[in-house]
Amino acid sequence: MSVVTLTINGETVSAQEGQTLLSVLRDHGVDVPTLCHLDGLSERGGCRLCLVELAGSNKLQASCVTAVQEGMVVQTHTDRLLAYRKQILEMLFAERNHVCAVCVMNGNCELQWQAAQAGMDHVRYDYLHPDLPMDASHDRFVLDHNRCILCTRCVRVCDEVEGAHTWDVMGRGINSLVITDLHQPWGSSASCTSCGKCVQVCPTGALFAKGATVAEMEKQHDFLRWILDGREKNQWSRT
Ligand code: FES
Repeated sequence: MSVVTLTINGETVSAQEGQTLLSVLRDHGVDVPTLCHLDGLSERGGCRLCLVELAGSNKLQASCVTAVQEGMVVQTHTDRLLAYRKQILEMLFAERNHVCAVCVMNGNCELQWQAAQAGMDHVRYDYLHPDLPMDASHDRFVLDHNRCILCTRCVRVCDEVEGAHTWDVMGRGINSLVITDLHQPWGSSASCTSCGKCVQVCPTGALFAKGATVAEMEKQHDFLRWILDGREKNQWSRT
């Protein structure tokens, strides 16, 4: 694989051809916020928080789905980018019912953390306050559509790591919902293995374990790297 050279915030760096811009930024300690990205899962490019500016293009690009190219000149923290990131977060908060004070993930929520990092102290848009249901039919877990930001981490981990493909997305745009088994109640899903991977990767309080109280629920992502590394090394094969 050949090496490419690019410039990030005025500094010349090298990267492997085929790497995503986001992985190169992280390799070089450049902290770009993300929500839909999670190491070990395929990229979706949905949340747009990882936007960067590329010289010669007026369009902002999501770094998680942009491959590095020779000679790229990248800016990651211009005033324009900071303003857009804050605006994206405000729109996420306005779209559903993210009331942190009564959320089980209060204090451990990635959306809340990103908003605080971006200096978001109010929302300039009308709250839509959709009347969305909860699904508490599963023995151990709950789905609250009100907290969902449609990052699809649950869909991807269930499909790509657990192999069950219980989760999917129904509908379009603002009316999209994550669903289990063609929109059956989660508790009656024939494909769900109750592994809980979807709950652990969910960045907000959309998926949580029953019995967890407010601010008690901490999610762990480490298992993902552990499973993927083990598979790569054939650690659990019988031969
Ligand atoms: Fe890149 Fe969400 S992390 S678009």
